[in-house]
Amino acid sequence: MLTIKETLEAGITEALVNVTGLGDAKAQVIYATRPEFGDYQANGVMSVAKQLRTNPRELAAKVVAEINCGELLAKAEVAGPGFINLFLSTEALARRASECLQDSAELILPVSKAQTIVVDYSSPNLAKEMHVGHLRGTIIGDAIVRILEALGHCVIRQNHVGDWGTQFGMLIAHLASLSEDNKAQSNNLSDLEVFYREAKQRFDADPEFAELARSYVVRLQQGDPECLAAWQRFIGESLRHCEEVYELLGVSLKRSDLCAESFYNDDLADIVKTLDSKELLTRSEGANCVFLEEFTGKDGNPLPVIVQKSDGGYLYATTDLAAVRYRCHNLGADRVLYVVDARQSLHFKQVFAAAKLAGFARSESHLEHIAYGTMMGEDGKPFKTRSGDTVKLRDLLDESIRRAFALVSDKNADLPESDRQQIADTVGIAAVKYSELSKNRTSDYIFDWSSMLSFEGNTAPYLLYAYARIQSVLRRLEEENVTPGENIMLQAPEERALAMKILQLSDVVRQTGQDGFPNQLCLYLYELSGIFMKFYETCPILKAEADLRQSRLALAALTAQTLKRGLNLLGIEPLNRM
Ligand code: ARG
Repeated sequence: MLTIKETLEAGITEALVNVTGLGDAKAQVIYATRPEFGDYQANGVMSVAKQLRTNPRELAAKVVAEINCGELLAKAEVAGPGFINLFLSTEALARRASECLQDSAELILPVSKAQTIVVDYSSPNLAKEMHVGHLRGTIIGDAIVRILEALGHCVIRQNHVGDWGTQFGMLIAHLASLSEDNKAQSNNLSDLEVFYREAKQRFDADPEFAELARSYVVRLQQGDPECLAAWQRFIGESLRHCEEVYELLGVSLKRSDLCAESFYNDDLADIVKTLDSKELLTRSEGANCVFLEEFTGKDGNPLPVIVQKSDGGYLYATTDLAAVRYRCHNLGADRVLYVVDARQSLHFKQVFAAAKLAGFARSESHLEHIAYGTMMGEDGKPFKTRSGDTVKLRDLLDESIRRAFALVSDKNADLPESDRQQIADTVGIAAVKYSELSKNRTSDYIFDWSSMLSFEGNTAPYLLYAYARIQSVLRRLEEENVTPGENIMLQAPEERALAMKILQLSDVVRQTGQDGFPNQLCLYLYELSGIFMKFYETCPILKAEADLRQSRLALAALTAQTLKRGLNLLGIEPLNRM
């Protein structure tokens, strides 16, 4: 089945093509900008008329006469300079809404053409613990994979963790130099962060130690068993930390989604060889580089992508080229999404361009950088602790739960403590997640506890509360033996508006899956809650006559289902009571 927008788009595009004979004409359907313009409007006539040098209003009239959108469209009218205003049939909306009620799977209709989509997200560097800088990519990426899966795509998660490189030489050297006593103590490496800092301090201060660290990198690369074992310990410990955070956050990444940088080690020589054979390689100061005309520095000189250093070592970009090849050719990706910090934009532009030229990407594979901005502190600088250290993600989440607990206790002093704690666990995590998801991901933003934990506005507490409230209404009526009906009737404008909003979920989810902006879905859920509130205020349920009462109750139940589906797509599990 097609979504509302797809149905309108298909019907009107067909009419436009029939009337003009232009095969690539598009209806360009959007939501109506004002209620008196109907429910939707088609804007495509104007550009076609311009192209054909014909009068747009006359063309629009001809198109309107040709339109066939089935039962969904009640009326189409020409407006202004050549818009077409579209009015949906209330009966058709009621029927569609009733169908969703019978089978909630219809709330999100699958796309007609499923794709294989690889999503690279979270991808922390393993020598350290996850810090706040990893929050956005992890949360946004996890929402995107859930959304794409709900649309019926085949999604392959890739956690491209940084598990290779000089920092591991440093850690191994530090571990090796500890006395046996200390070694036993650091066996659990419980505080990797401290261990990393100690190693780094020695690396920076002591040239002899730095030399030792570098020799360990070489030994590691040569496959020295002792070094490999030490390296494995760090990786294992670090992954354990990551997985704790994923668990706490409710992130869907599993061990099996791990495809670390080191996975590509054996491919790197071949990547360089292939670049060479395609004559894309240039030697510059002993290093192997790819120069692409379109990338120049401030001085106007071309910027290199270095793929091999003069000492033979490979780089971040080399691994990424190997990853593109693996994802496009071995995994068969139609799209590869990289949910990574915006500060790596240039890196990805260069890698994508080089990968296309070298044939590492299939020509029909789309490579997309889903970039996100930086989390800032109140001072407008990247978020840090008071002492200037990076904030561990774990600590941030624990604090959010603590704050949520205080808040919940404030509101519901008489609830048993264990209930309050359970609510706080959900609210605390949801607040952090939702505040990441509800903002346009491309901008930097200021981290602010009070707004994310507020019960007003477009926040997690507001939505969770809205959901719990509908559930409590449903429970109360159930006690009065009022149960939802099977048919939804749409008489009042508030009922119609609510049903239409519910039926728009499919289109919002499609759009979000297409461009990777979960804030659109957040805004939708927030608006849905508002439209529900209007309905709830103007359309009494219990006082209504039998059929209408059941219909309204059904509409309330369907709203709750829609909110829940939407929140689940964002990785949030709502509570039935709050
Ligand atoms: N580990 C990298 C970092 O922390 C992010 C990796 C992103 N993915 C990729 N294919 N480069 O900056």
